[in-house]
Amino acid sequence: MSKPIVTLATCAALPQLSEDDAPLPDALAERGIEPRVAVWDDPSVDWSAAGTVVVRSVSDYAPRREEFVRWAESVPRICNHADVIRWNTDKHYLLELEKRGMPTIPTVWLEPERNLSKHQVHTRFPAGGDFVVKPAVSSGAHDTGRYTAVDAVSRQQAIGHAMDLLSQGRAVMVQRYLESVDQRGETALIFMNGLVSHAVEKEAMLHGPFRGEVDAPEEVAHARQATEAEWRLGEEARKAIHSYIKERMGRDEQLTFCRIDVVEGEDGLHVMEVGLVDASLYLSTTPGAVDNFADAIAVRAFW
Ligand SMILES: Nc1ncnc2c1ncn2[C@@H]1O[C@H](COP(=O)(O)OP(=O)(O)O)[C@@H](O)[C@H]1O
Ligand SMILES: [Mg+2]
Repeated sequence: MSKPIVTLATCAALPQLSEDDAPLPDALAERGIEPRVAVWDDPSVDWSAAGTVVVRSVSDYAPRREEFVRWAESVPRICNHADVIRWNTDKHYLLELEKRGMPTIPTVWLEPERNLSKHQVHTRFPAGGDFVVKPAVSSGAHDTGRYTAVDAVSRQQAIGHAMDLLSQGRAVMVQRYLESVDQRGETALIFMNGLVSHAVEKEAMLHGPFRGEVDAPEEVAHARQATEAEWRLGEEARKAIHSYIKERMGRDEQLTFCRIDVVEGEDGLHVMEVGLVDASLYLSTTPGAVDNFADAIAVRAFW
């Protein structure tokens, strides 16, 4: 019997995967799998011969989301499923989690169809404190800025930032800046095939306004012993996602990988983001994490 093939899909900027995912091919080979790495938009790749495709460092999808989702839909065997990819590449999914009782971060959504004026954008910002302006379709803190409400210059910059995104047809999210991120960062909870794998602390990434830089801020992460309350919320969110996918997509199956980022607000924990597409899984931070991921992938490859 020939070995099952697993292709790890990456982007052109990281043709050999991210540093963090680099140990995966060897871990898959140890499990009797033929590992391959391919760039998602490389026209020379025959995805029908790529075996089980696992989406990894495709951090360039945001400006071309539709093209990316169509690619995912065209791949015969892809993890996570293309329907999940379509849903999770737009942060409006947070509204769905909110409906299901998850504590998300209170958000003002600015939709491009509304053709909001500068003044209307201005009136939708908070009156005090720091706040965040970020696009609904984004990853790696790209195009994300932190502003100070009472500082006239900062507020003007925030208006400019939001108007700029809106003019590109992009939906914008406005949130209070949660100060706890500066003190204790975010906690990323990682599940493989529905089971707890590991947790990491991600340090704060926003130290000031978005300045139109091409490169997103660098992410610093290290292993963290998540609290019981964090794991409880992570598990609730994971279940809510599972039941949403079951009801709306008719798919009753575990996600190969699922990352749930939680942060402390003044009134308890909140879900900041759920990563089911290009989420870094911080495999190098915790012993056993690479094996957990390779096991979760192997289950897909052999069945
Ligand atoms: N409301 C917020 N309060 C504090 N920090 C935030 C907030 N929103 C975003 N950030 C910071 O910006 C980063 C990126 O935002 P996030 O919503 O995680 O989008 P993505 O990771 O998909 O770019 C976060 O990791 C965090 O450091
Ligand atoms: Mg994030």
